[in-house]
Amino acid sequence: MSEKITVSAERTYDVLLAADWRSSLRELTHNKVRCAIVTTQSMKERIGNLEAGDCEFTYCVIPDGEEGKSPAVLMQLWNWLAAAGFTRSDLIVGIGGGAVTDIAGFAAATYLRGIDWIAVPTSVAGAVDAAVGGKTGANLDYGKNLIGSFHSPLNVIVDISWFDSLSDRDFAAGLAEVVKCGFIKDPEILSLMAGCTIANLRADQGLVSDLVKRSIQVKADVVGADFTESYLRETLNYGHTFGHAVEKHAKYSLRHGECVSIGMAFMAHLQLAQGLISQEVHDLHFSILSSLDLPVTYSQGDWLELKALMSMDKKVRGNTLRFVTITEPGKCDRLEGVADSALYEAYGKVSL
Ligand code: GLY
Repeated sequence: MSEKITVSAERTYDVLLAADWRSSLRELTHNKVRCAIVTTQSMKERIGNLEAGDCEFTYCVIPDGEEGKSPAVLMQLWNWLAAAGFTRSDLIVGIGGGAVTDIAGFAAATYLRGIDWIAVPTSVAGAVDAAVGGKTGANLDYGKNLIGSFHSPLNVIVDISWFDSLSDRDFAAGLAEVVKCGFIKDPEILSLMAGCTIANLRADQGLVSDLVKRSIQVKADVVGADFTESYLRETLNYGHTFGHAVEKHAKYSLRHGECVSIGMAFMAHLQLAQGLISQEVHDLHFSILSSLDLPVTYSQGDWLELKALMSMDKKVRGNTLRFVTITEPGKCDRLEGVADSALYEAYGKVSL
């Protein structure tokens, strides 16, 4: 029997912490007629043939990474579903990283005005963030996730054995979101990660499982209280205001989690200078992120360009930048109206 974490959003669903994602998926699809597996070519090769039972599986293979999150791919998915005669009682399953589960969920949100979907995240970032919480979407030429919908899955199946195939870089990048969960809501995560290197973590499945579970619980609690991001859900964006700006500035050559890591470093400098956090909490950001080999500086930036990119953040109200802050690990607040000179000073410390 899998462990599970229940998310109560516009629908209530379980994130199954499965020992074997295949058997969990088999149980969840056995009474379905049609199921579309949205995945990438490399994943399809790893998945092999799924036991169908009574359910007819159709594979929809999409490009890897952010390329798979385009309106053109979305259109292709809609047409595949229609051509295969999918009805409202049929199911979409996204198996892959965050880009795959985002677009699979958005196809499910929009086809026939909404059908059920299941997320099977295969990356750390997908398991602890993208696949949980019901945000689905696609990218436009002007930016990531500019179209989308809140459409919770029927279930999320998290099997950490997928992580074995991740590179150290991707594994670490996903852990940036775990560290973020520690800072915004569950400081025990930070204690568990203190001094941990990627090698330590990769050798300790029990610890990884605990960290993943704790991070999913953070996400479940936050989206359960504020599904459509009126205030509380913004806290999941700790470090993301500067991080998203870096991500765009670097033309998506860095992993999202790496940019979040740089964004949290920026916040540590800014919050210390504003007297919001102690030196100890500031230092904790750097000790944890650096042990995981995550970047805490971005030297290719241009301040005016980064500031302009930060102004496109979705927390901006009018022309005022708003940052999610912490006062201590586990307690969040917001910071608005901060002087340009203070932002520039924090930028100076991450741009070395
Ligand atoms: N990734 C942030 C959120 O789901 O709100």
